[in-house]
Amino acid sequence: MGGQTPMEMDMNRDLTEETKKTSRGGTYISCMQSGGGEDSYANISRPQNFIFRVYTRSHLSEALDYLCTSPHILKLFQRVDKEQDGEERPLVAALSPSDFRSKEPPSFPRLKVADLGCSHGRNTLDYAAYILLELQTRLLKGCSITASQTREDVTVSEIEYLFSDLPENDFNSLFRSLPSLLQGIADQAHHACKIFTGGVPGSFHGPLFPTSSLHFATSAYSLHWLSQVPPEVLDKNSPAWNGGSVWLHGERPKVMKAFASQYRKDMRCFFQQRARELVKGGVLFLLLPCRAELHPSGALYDPRLDLWSGFFESAWSDMVCQGIVSEEERDLFNIPFYMCHEEELLSLLEEFVDVFRVLKMETMKGCVGMPTDEEEKLLEDPPAFGRFWANFIASLVRPMVREHIGEERSVQFFARLESLITERANKCAIRRNTLLVTIIQRL
Ligand SMILES: C[S@@+](CC[C@H](N)C(=O)[O-])C[C@H]1O[C@@H](n2cnc3c(N)ncnc32)[C@H](O)[C@@H]1O
Repeated sequence: MGGQTPMEMDMNRDLTEETKKTSRGGTYISCMQSGGGEDSYANISRPQNFIFRVYTRSHLSEALDYLCTSPHILKLFQRVDKEQDGEERPLVAALSPSDFRSKEPPSFPRLKVADLGCSHGRNTLDYAAYILLELQTRLLKGCSITASQTREDVTVSEIEYLFSDLPENDFNSLFRSLPSLLQGIADQAHHACKIFTGGVPGSFHGPLFPTSSLHFATSAYSLHWLSQVPPEVLDKNSPAWNGGSVWLHGERPKVMKAFASQYRKDMRCFFQQRARELVKGGVLFLLLPCRAELHPSGALYDPRLDLWSGFFESAWSDMVCQGIVSEEERDLFNIPFYMCHEEELLSLLEEFVDVFRVLKMETMKGCVGMPTDEEEKLLEDPPAFGRFWANFIASLVRPMVREHIGEERSVQFFARLESLITERANKCAIRRNTLLVTIIQRL
């Protein structure tokens, strides 16, 4: 780090760099497919949702425990109640209605929570509902509030829940779903904290929140997106040129190295900003697809259903063979994803030992994205199988493909992709994912 601390480097950095997503001289649109179509992220992200419910929730709960038991956070909620029983009671900030009539406006302890790379749709809302309900349960623990007290009587805390994503994200559909989310939470919570929501458009590689203002941040399935495709992999004259391919294959070490170094650069920016924004004791919860093996050639997915290096790559080759897309156009398209190995993240976090403590880092292997019987049923119906997985890919990258080759050819591209998957459905297997869970606390 050239003798500079991460925070110093942060101050020197050109912040506009993060928001530019240049690849072939154009702009990458790395947000998800919006709207209510079959391939919209909201409608097709069932595997991510299944993973949330089956694998992620318990880790998220652990992260919230760390937050709510951190002395710095507990202090926020401490009301000294010594006169009554000689003991300090944490987590109580109940005000009676008469407090509102006093001249001074009442103030409550406040928690700020953010979802980074929130997208829109069910996952986004499920994360928010889970975090908001679980936080309330934890904040109420230790409170001397009786069950008969109502929300009007008591406010334990105010929670600000912020949804953050790139400006191109479908914030409209997300915002439209917030009233029912909040109503659902109010219906379930015994004593609701007052909840406020908001949207923060911007890249998580850059600054998003004021300094020392954030208590908890979650980011799921988002941090494998790079801020850009490393320029050298698109440059014919570079030894790291990824000619003939749109995906990252482990057998091209120079390409892999270029992606790995872009990832490190991006993640360093991410951690620098979160180090600045999180309060002491604040917690970061990260879930991202990762590699199970340190060696870059280690397969990311079971080759029998590797959507990216298998079908997505083949669809591009077909488009080139049919003369619909030129070789050059294809070579100028690469997906800005990088799936790291946990060692890579750990080694980067060593640069931040003074500001972050890693509380958990766990690679979960073999995670399935659907109940097995549902996936088996899908496998037995090739057209449905092809449509589902083509839509799944489209939900993630259609805006990017459309940006690169235009609307008409992108429609042809995804139709080709669907028929490829349908044709080979009988050779496919249940898709398994490797995921990295990380919990980090701001020191
Ligand atoms: C696969 S979606 C994940 C959505 C959601 N968190 C979930 O678990 O379903 C990835 C999201 O990351 C967002 N994203 C990608 N790069 C980003 C960046 N640099 N800053 C903020 N969001 C980003 C995309 O726009 C997209 O909404």
